[in-house]
Amino acid sequence: MREDIKEVLFDEQKLRSRIKEIGKQISKDYAGKDLFLIGVLKGSVPFMADLMKEIDIPCTMDFMAVSSYGNSSKTSGVVRILKDLDFEIEDKHVLIVEDIVDSGVTLRYLVDYLKGRKPASIEIAALLNKHERRMVEVNAKYIGFEVPDYFLVGYGLDYAEKYRNLPYIGILKEKIYE
Ligand code: IMP
Ligand code: MG
Repeated sequence: MREDIKEVLFDEQKLRSRIKEIGKQISKDYAGKDLFLIGVLKGSVPFMADLMKEIDIPCTMDFMAVSSYGNSSKTSGVVRILKDLDFEIEDKHVLIVEDIVDSGVTLRYLVDYLKGRKPASIEIAALLNKHERRMVEVNAKYIGFEVPDYFLVGYGLDYAEKYRNLPYIGILKEKIYE
């Protein structure tokens, strides 16, 4: 698969050490609080799996699946919930775990949607942040890495549902999607 990858941005070791730092910070910030992690399927799965192991305070977890309509050049802003939570989040300290914040549309919708269920607080942990692509305001409290505007794959990130299993994050060669 490496021949489809133009450049490896974050290898396993880099990901592991940054996620360790974030886990430590979350453990500190949420000590004594009822922490509820929400992973956004499917891109957050590797990040969630590694992050939760670095959190050393009691917490619970759940997953949601969403799909956003529209293509990358013009986002409709409509997000559809494909799988909702199994548990109530009222009075819980919610932390949404996501692979990447791009336009911000998905997370903006999700945060507003979940706020309606009266959590004690709601924050975002995103492994990657493509700040220059932002269309709506989203503030992630925890960010792994700032990334430039390239199409990235691996460690949960896909192109046409492939490459999620790569243990590193890389830039996909243009010829694959052109
Ligand atoms: P947003 O609503 O535009 O912020 O969409 C975020 C979602 O778009 C992420 O959860 C990813 O599924 C997808 N996405 C954005 N940028 C990339 C990328 O570079 N590679 C793969 N998926 C991406
Ligand atoms: Mg996604």
